[in-house]
Amino acid sequence: MKLAVLVSGKGSLLEAMIEQNIPIALVLADKQCRGVAIAVEHSIPTKVIDRRQFGYQKGVGEAWDRRGFTVAVTDFLDESGIEVVAMAGFMTVFDQVMFERYGGRVLNSHPALLPQFKGATAVADALAAGVTETGSTIHVATEILDDETTILGQVKVPVLPGDDVDTLWERIKVEERQLYPQVLRQILDGSTKLNGLN
Ligand code: GRF
Repeated sequence: MKLAVLVSGKGSLLEAMIEQNIPIALVLADKQCRGVAIAVEHSIPTKVIDRRQFGYQKGVGEAWDRRGFTVAVTDFLDESGIEVVAMAGFMTVFDQVMFERYGGRVLNSHPALLPQFKGATAVADALAAGVTETGSTIHVATEILDDETTILGQVKVPVLPGDDVDTLWERIKVEERQLYPQVLRQILDGSTKLNGLN
């Protein structure tokens, strides 16, 4: 199974996958970031498709070519023979063209217990809501943001008194670094079947 991992930031989940011997065929990013450097260090092929080349700027909302970006990414993955796409801190929401091509084979890690706290501010939202427990969800991504239809793994994390976004998110990530590789391992060995993967 040829797996691509998609990153935008620190890449600590990617690092955990590498440490836990998940075979990764390609690391793709939407900008230069530490995740790309980690891949290079481990001699994993990398590709940066910078979303700014498609008109993306912070705060421009939908006034950029999301579809063009998604087509460029999807074409590259396809040409590279990638079968499963694992987003690990990848911060761009894809156009539906990704799911027309890779439907059922795009995974994501979300730092909350879906269906709770969807979106990019999940950890802050959990704190603001005053919940005593949050966590992480590995799920099959669709064109619906943080879709909870197919959950492949979930882990709970307590919210502790005095937690801020950084302390809570780091504690969530400690769990994600175990859970995501475990879910990928089950897909690799066939014990978890993905729709659309032969
Ligand atoms: C994780 O918490 C993941 O759930 C979220 O982004 C974070 C990625 O962290 N989507 P890192 O960049 O791998 O350190």
